[in-house]
Amino acid sequence: MATTELVKGVRATHSTIALKLAMAISGIVFILFVLAHMYGNLKAFAGHDAYNEYAEHLRTLGTPMLPYAGFLWILRVGLLVALIVHVVSAVVLWKRAAAARPVKYAVKKNVASSISSRTMRWGGLTILLFLIWHLLQFTIVKIDITDGSTGNQDPYNLLVGAFADQSWWMTVIYLLAMVALGLHLHHGTFSSLQTLGYTNTATSRARARIAGWIVAIVIAGGFSLVPLFALFGVISK
Ligand code: HEM
Repeated sequence: MATTELVKGVRATHSTIALKLAMAISGIVFILFVLAHMYGNLKAFAGHDAYNEYAEHLRTLGTPMLPYAGFLWILRVGLLVALIVHVVSAVVLWKRAAAARPVKYAVKKNVASSISSRTMRWGGLTILLFLIWHLLQFTIVKIDITDGSTGNQDPYNLLVGAFADQSWWMTVIYLLAMVALGLHLHHGTFSSLQTLGYTNTATSRARARIAGWIVAIVIAGGFSLVPLFALFGVISK
């Protein structure tokens, strides 16, 4: 009986490690994507034609070996797989942690935990909701919020128009989403380095925390530039 329990325990530990690895690897895929996406968005500072040329280039990348938009579709499928792996692993780990502690702590002191680590679940959910709206707005429906029309085929005008001064609230929504993204990336980067075994000493832990801050500030800060500069009219239609 005791041996069966032990075997069960070892199996659960192994699968928990596998799930954490799955979260770390899919998280790194996302970090690489958002880094590239953020860099691409900065092309808006180069003006209407440069940005639209870049958007078109994303669709012709790899042609004629790949069909038109083939590269984009490979990217989309890869991101969807990473998203499913990331969310499913998070939910299973979450349930497992809850089952291991069915009774909550009477007094919950958040000793040594940062705001980033305490907001991983709600922050993750916020980013997911943001992503659904974001894809409808810019890719699936292409909603021009200035006049409510759909199917806008000018990527630069769609992007810059979304954050113009009459739709300042859209900039606010995006900036709040970037705060959630920054906190998530800060703790996520640290956690994935921990899962991969890079936080065994005090120095490496400190370095992993710094890496978390750099990733968060570069990505969330970089993304915030286009909405902010469009709101203040520095980049405009
Ligand atoms: C201020 C922040 C952001 C801005 C201004 C922005 C802007 C855009 C724009 C303009 C597009 C359409 C690109 C095109 O069709 O050429 C797009 C697509 C997309 N964005 Fe963002 N984005 C932001 C943040 C994010 C974040 C944080 C994520 C992920 C968590 C994300 C994920 C995506 C995805 C998956 C696509 C679809 C690519 C495709 O399949 O065509 N974006 N974004």
